[in-house]
Amino acid sequence: MFQDKKILLAITGSIAAYKSILLTRLLIKAGAEVKIVMTPAARDFVSPLTLSTLSRNPVVIDLSNNESWSNHVQLGRWADIMIVAPLSCNTMAKMAHGLCDNMLLATYLSATCPVVVAPAMDEDMWHHPATRNNLQLLESYGNKVIPVGRGDLASGLYGDGRMAEPETIMQFIQEHYFINQDLAGRKALVTAGPTYEPIDPVRFIGNHSSGKMGLAIAEELARRGAAVQLILGPSSVNTTVAGIKVHKVQTAQQMFDACLQEFAGADIAVMSAAVADFTPVTTNAEKIKKTAGSLTVELTKTRDILKSLGKEKRQDQVLVGFALETNNEKEFAREKLSSKNADMIVLNSLNDEGAGFGYDTNKITIFERSGLELPYERKPKQQVAHDIVDRIVNMLYA
Ligand code: CTP
Repeated sequence: MFQDKKILLAITGSIAAYKSILLTRLLIKAGAEVKIVMTPAARDFVSPLTLSTLSRNPVVIDLSNNESWSNHVQLGRWADIMIVAPLSCNTMAKMAHGLCDNMLLATYLSATCPVVVAPAMDEDMWHHPATRNNLQLLESYGNKVIPVGRGDLASGLYGDGRMAEPETIMQFIQEHYFINQDLAGRKALVTAGPTYEPIDPVRFIGNHSSGKMGLAIAEELARRGAAVQLILGPSSVNTTVAGIKVHKVQTAQQMFDACLQEFAGADIAVMSAAVADFTPVTTNAEKIKKTAGSLTVELTKTRDILKSLGKEKRQDQVLVGFALETNNEKEFAREKLSSKNADMIVLNSLNDEGAGFGYDTNKITIFERSGLELPYERKPKQQVAHDIVDRIVNMLYA
């Protein structure tokens, strides 16, 4: 997504400036063109030689040397985005009040592109009312602020004020500016979380699904432009991503009803919920007392949502299911692909470390209708969602 993007990285005098070396590397590796402007104070923390070598462009520091004048207007107009990382307290105050005593500030004031800042300072400076006011001023100019992290600070103290990690900055920029809207105008249906099958008013049959994987998929689809209906079983996850309509359900039957209602209007359906396979035949109206020596709860099969959608599926729809297995993984995944008439099955094996319920990471293999089998590395669930949606897009436009 950063391919051929023009990034102007502005570095100020802060101990966190060492992270801008890594940020430069990540940007270049991702295909961006990077130019760097620094304040004179930043030179004490990182070497312009290192940065010019990594960015493959001369680093600009001074408004002029005795012979020539640096064109700050040109730099600010060249860039698709200006990232100030790290942003020191001093430069933040100057930007907020329009001071212009170095090349970085002159570039900022004449930049026509969006500006993103990643502040870095000690905790007490970060919480000072002057800093709060200055940040508010920057935001009122339309600049975006990447939140600081909490951790060890240069002062030896522990608290708020650490500059966001380079990977976090990359992700922030990607999400806010460079997301590919390849699903604009499309509609998607996603199920996530467990279902709870009530035994009586206080007890239920459930499972350990957290809903994180399904939510990550719903968010990725929405960021790429799809209008998403998320059918969410009982789960504590929630989302702030625009474009997702959440329908909260409890039971497999409620999830089934919601899905059947939405499916005809969807281009894409991703069934990532861990739906209970069995439900009690009857639900006691009152709490069951422990008077008897034993208790038998008769269960009946729930309706298979994925399979039902598979029967109704049109040629122009992409239907994705999940398989969570403990043995004969590939065989079961392929079997689910055909028995449920899905276009794609995402397999996660409980044998893989860091995969499955509750984790923030997942390790998947995708099985496609064409016979294609794609194994992936263990990754954060957001990146796994990105990989899955890439395959869906590929299938949708094939
Ligand atoms: N699924 C569903 N409705 C159900 C049960 C499962 O839509 N009542 C979907 C899940 O959301 C998942 C896929 O079917 O996408 C696979 O679910 P899984 O429970 O692993 O497979 P089952 O078909 O139930 O088979 P088994 O439990 O025997 O492995």
